[in-house]
Amino acid sequence: MAQVPKVRLSGGLEICRLLNGMWQVSGAHGPIDPQKAVKAMEAYVNAGLTSFDMADIYGPAEEIFGNFNRQRKSSSSDVVTPAIQGLTKWVPRPGPMDRKVVEKAIQRSMSRMQVERLDCLQFHWWDYSDKRYLEALGHLSDLQQEGMICELALTNFDTQRLEEITSKGIRISSNQVHYSLIDRRPAAKMEKFCLAHGIQLLTYGTIGGGLISERYLGCGEPKSRAELNTASLSKYKNMVDAWGGWGLFQELLSTLDAVARRHGCSIANVATKYMLDQPAVAGVIVGCRLGVAGAEHIQDNLRSCGVRLAPEDLRAIDSVLHRSRDLTRSIGDCGDEYRN
Ligand SMILES: NC(=O)c1ccc[n+]([C@@H]2O[C@H](COP(=O)([O-])OP(=O)(O)OC[C@H]3O[C@@H](n4cnc5c(N)ncnc54)[C@H](OP(=O)(O)O)[C@@H]3O)[C@@H](O)[C@H]2O)c1
Repeated sequence: MAQVPKVRLSGGLEICRLLNGMWQVSGAHGPIDPQKAVKAMEAYVNAGLTSFDMADIYGPAEEIFGNFNRQRKSSSSDVVTPAIQGLTKWVPRPGPMDRKVVEKAIQRSMSRMQVERLDCLQFHWWDYSDKRYLEALGHLSDLQQEGMICELALTNFDTQRLEEITSKGIRISSNQVHYSLIDRRPAAKMEKFCLAHGIQLLTYGTIGGGLISERYLGCGEPKSRAELNTASLSKYKNMVDAWGGWGLFQELLSTLDAVARRHGCSIANVATKYMLDQPAVAGVIVGCRLGVAGAEHIQDNLRSCGVRLAPEDLRAIDSVLHRSRDLTRSIGDCGDEYRN
């Protein structure tokens, strides 16, 4: 079994540096058969990819994780099976955030995931003008002290709010953000703050929903809904447009292809390793269309961690990146695309 590198979050939870993303089972990436999805998870765990990222709003994701968890517990009487980690999110609509509301949300995730406490709860908030996110985080922090949550984390928060939250004495383990060769906004401010405060980054969109791969090298620009047929593809195609457009993106893919060939690996491996090498990044989340034929990339993705990018590789990649637009200027800090 390949050794997948691990990292410890500040509350003590050990996770894989490559995580399996479960937005892809939400229904926004094509139909999923929940039973096949549960079955498909075994191959990831057997390959050493034991960390799963999900959310309360990803359709049946938490239940799929829960069913997998239950089956493992019931079938592992005398066989030692590796521990799995379930990282979820709470993405509430702004509204009352008293203790009862917060606790109910946490208990709902625990019950769906069939766990006695949450390994990691990543909190999202849609509207900074509504300051009740501080109230919610205060209760989440209490629930963490009481043992219901191991790691209290955020997703899509900007640096200003991260600063505000930590200044209130709330301890945050990680912030999950879009971070890729196309979207390097976390490097502008977020990274420095995280390094100074022991907060780690978990990244998504790192392979652009599949755009940053051989599949799109030398291809005409996909525009129709039929071509951009998953929520990820259409989300990240918009980012490519904002970043510099399809022509520059093709130059990036050719450059990544040349680097990948030098290392005997894939374009996705280079894109993933580039992010794993960024100073505050703990892990890269790669979306998995669990149980869908032809959508399993375990063996390829396992190679990412072993790639060693050389200075000439980085120079070649950076020579394309420096011709792209500055997304911090056009979109803002991490997560601002969810609030504009
Ligand atoms: N916090 C947030 O707001 C947020 C937002 C988005 C995502 N996320 C998290 O991040 C996860 C990642 O999802 P994402 O949307 O960002 O997508 P992504 O990981 O950039 O892309 C996933 C897709 O890339 C393709 N792929 C995977 N490995 C590949 C390889 N080695 N070679 C070629 N193609 C490969 C697969 O496409 P095919 O299935 O077509 O083969 C897969 O469905 C989500 O599941 C979720 O957990 C969080």
